[in-house]
Amino acid sequence: MALQISATNPEHPALLLELPWQTPLEEWPEEYLVPLPRGISRHVVRYARAGDEVIAVKELAERPALREYQLLRDLDRLAIPAVDALAVVTGRTGASGVPLEPVLITRHLGGSMPYRSMFETTLRPATMHRLMDALAVLLVRLHLAGFAWGDCSLSNTLFRRDAGAYAAYLVDAETGELHQRLSDGQRDYDLDLARVNISGELLDLEASGALHPSVDPIDFGTEICARYRSLWDELTRTSVYPAGKYHYIERRIRRLNDLGFDVAEMQIEHASNGDTVTFVPKVVDAGHHQRQLLRLTGLDAEENQARRLLNDLESWMATQDDYAPGDPLGARPEVLAHRWVREVFRPTVRAVPVELRGAMDPAEIYHELLEHRWYLSERAQHDIGLETAVADYIANILPKARETLQPTAD
Ligand SMILES: Nc1ncnc2c1ncn2[C@@H]1O[C@H](COP(=O)(O)OP(=O)(O)OP(=O)(O)O)[C@@H](O)[C@H]1O
Ligand SMILES: [Mg+2]
Repeated sequence: MALQISATNPEHPALLLELPWQTPLEEWPEEYLVPLPRGISRHVVRYARAGDEVIAVKELAERPALREYQLLRDLDRLAIPAVDALAVVTGRTGASGVPLEPVLITRHLGGSMPYRSMFETTLRPATMHRLMDALAVLLVRLHLAGFAWGDCSLSNTLFRRDAGAYAAYLVDAETGELHQRLSDGQRDYDLDLARVNISGELLDLEASGALHPSVDPIDFGTEICARYRSLWDELTRTSVYPAGKYHYIERRIRRLNDLGFDVAEMQIEHASNGDTVTFVPKVVDAGHHQRQLLRLTGLDAEENQARRLLNDLESWMATQDDYAPGDPLGARPEVLAHRWVREVFRPTVRAVPVELRGAMDPAEIYHELLEHRWYLSERAQHDIGLETAVADYIANILPKARETLQPTAD
């Protein structure tokens, strides 16, 4: 059987060919290896150099190798923090012609640490809480995307420092399954596995004296579940607001954005008596809004601007008589979006005199106006409407902005 390298990047196979595939991974000579800390694992894992990249090489049977490769690529497509799959190498034979196990190759996650190395110096409980937060966020992200991990644990996670906090990455996807969406039962099951694994790992650390004496392994496992549940609830719960209080919806969206999530779709329903509005967000990871705004409206904006504009567009759509999502007789979103561009977006931007706009492009101006409306509505405790916001912005904000841009007299 010939050596075969399937890789995501066409430049990689040539680089990878230089590695000693005819030698079992455990016996690879030092010159190929990069001595960085590794977590515990059943399979043999080594870090090696390929061109100017450090790669992680894991030996395992062909089927699981291909499966994990595919799952990691799916997670990448879903913008989930996980290690990048680079290649699978099959058809390896040893010196005397014995077949060797295939390998899965991932990119070494720079700046990451396996949790065991973090516990080499006893971690303060506050730091541990931050690690657990990061892991709970990762699990929520995976579940939102329909991924049941099947083996969430500290050893299957890598941690990277992130501006005073930690970001958690999935490193081992072997047991994972990707579904359209997960049922509550599937999530509970996955969460329970996480709890048992993590408490077990902390008990091990306790036995070796590496755990801070105030940390209880069992309580910590339970706590991570509580953190997961409160985050999940915040991201997915349905809220009911009095009709007309659209800025309540905006407030909720801002809270979600602050948690690092974006709202891809909103389901907004008016009660038949017109008193209340029910709001269900569909939460996703970032990157998505720019594309969607472009598709719907032809406007090309930065991600944060796009998010705000889409939120505004969607709240506006819900006020239109022919808005009926899912109903084939209702207006298509593209049609409504173009109406919004014509009747709301353009007239609003045009209300701002060209000479006052400075270097701001239309998307940015509109974004600024939405910000201003938000600010004034919060202060007034009710939605003050876009027109009032625009008038106030032109009268009170733009002149000041221009003053600060003018050179001073002396
Ligand atoms: N891309 C990577 N970047 C950094 N570290 C990595 C990477 N891939 C693997 N590792 C390290 O190797 C360890 C083992 O990898 P992995 O969990 O995939 O192996 P495994 O044998 O499948 O594990 P298990 O025993 O859980 O089945 C990880 O805990 C991590 O420390
Ligand atoms: Mg593992």
